[in-house]
Amino acid sequence: MKKSSLFSFSALAAAAALALTGCAAETTPPSETATGSSTEETVEATAGRACVILPDADSGTRWEPGDRPALEKALTAAGYEADIQNAQSDTAKYATIGDQQLTKGCGVMLLVDYQGAGVSVAEKAKAQGVPVIAYDRPIAGADYYLSFDNEVVGAMQGQMIIDGLEAAGKDVTTASIIYSSGDPADGNAAMFLNGALSVLEAAGASPAFTMEGTWDGTKAGTLFEQAFTAVSGSVDAVLAPNDNNAASIIAILDKNGLTVPVSGQDASIAGLQNVLLGKQYGTVYKPFTIQAEAGAAMAITILSGEVPETNKTLADGTPFLALDPISVSAEQVKDVVANGDASVEELCTADVAAACEQYGIN
Ligand code: BGC
Repeated sequence: MKKSSLFSFSALAAAAALALTGCAAETTPPSETATGSSTEETVEATAGRACVILPDADSGTRWEPGDRPALEKALTAAGYEADIQNAQSDTAKYATIGDQQLTKGCGVMLLVDYQGAGVSVAEKAKAQGVPVIAYDRPIAGADYYLSFDNEVVGAMQGQMIIDGLEAAGKDVTTASIIYSSGDPADGNAAMFLNGALSVLEAAGASPAFTMEGTWDGTKAGTLFEQAFTAVSGSVDAVLAPNDNNAASIIAILDKNGLTVPVSGQDASIAGLQNVLLGKQYGTVYKPFTIQAEAGAAMAITILSGEVPETNKTLADGTPFLALDPISVSAEQVKDVVANGDASVEELCTADVAAACEQYGIN
């Protein structure tokens, strides 16, 4: 039985931290640059505000509870005034927020795309000379893309399915696996799926049914019900793209008295609880703090007129700083707690308390 994650948790966290220290050390926060430097005026006039647009408040459990406070903290610590807005799953609202922010003035924009709405905001920003960082999701025309390595995230999810099936004594090559994915309008979804497929195909797995992609948890539940019927209730594992979709899928598996390996992403409280309860094989942990600090460091570097560090390039040529995600199964949940991204109080509710004890979370 293979329980370990793809990579060692602490090694990855340390590597990510080191990489970030490297970035940050070369840059000067706008507040410092502003004191007595020759670039004083430019920095004060344009660089002080970092404008951020988040996509929604419900597709994952991350944008409001995770990214907003992390970005607020990292950008403020870097000397910016942070203007963080949420498009609330509305492309028209996304455009309006973009216009309002640009009218008020932005030194830099960090945009999380929502169904392609980021493209025209990025165009307008660039027409005004405002640099654009595509934050987490790719945006055509952005100057830089900053995210966790989405292909690796997907590979970790594929590995969860294989490890889970092996742990259950099932043959991966004949197992009935339902494949699901994220909203195809989010450029990340294809990267997650490609990463997962690379691992699943190499292990000889194939889909019993492939669901339409979505980030809408309710819709994921409906689509899974249809998939469940299509395979006559014969399900050995479910490739799910994030914790939010996994939760809806698990609710239906529960209703049908089934517990099978399900993958996830985001290390959300609900996801971690499902992992502890053995209802989800694992989740992919992408610490918001690391991403937000990398975003702030990248913004500072760009505004200092330097070229920020990147380590990949997207197919359209956008330079990409890919951070290292962390695969978390039940044994590693305590590391997420130790890192401050989940608390015992939140996780260890009455029904999860025994599992918390079992996995040393107390
Ligand atoms: C993010 C995931 C998130 C999903 C739904 C993706 O672009 O990378 O972390 O779960 O969107 O919001």
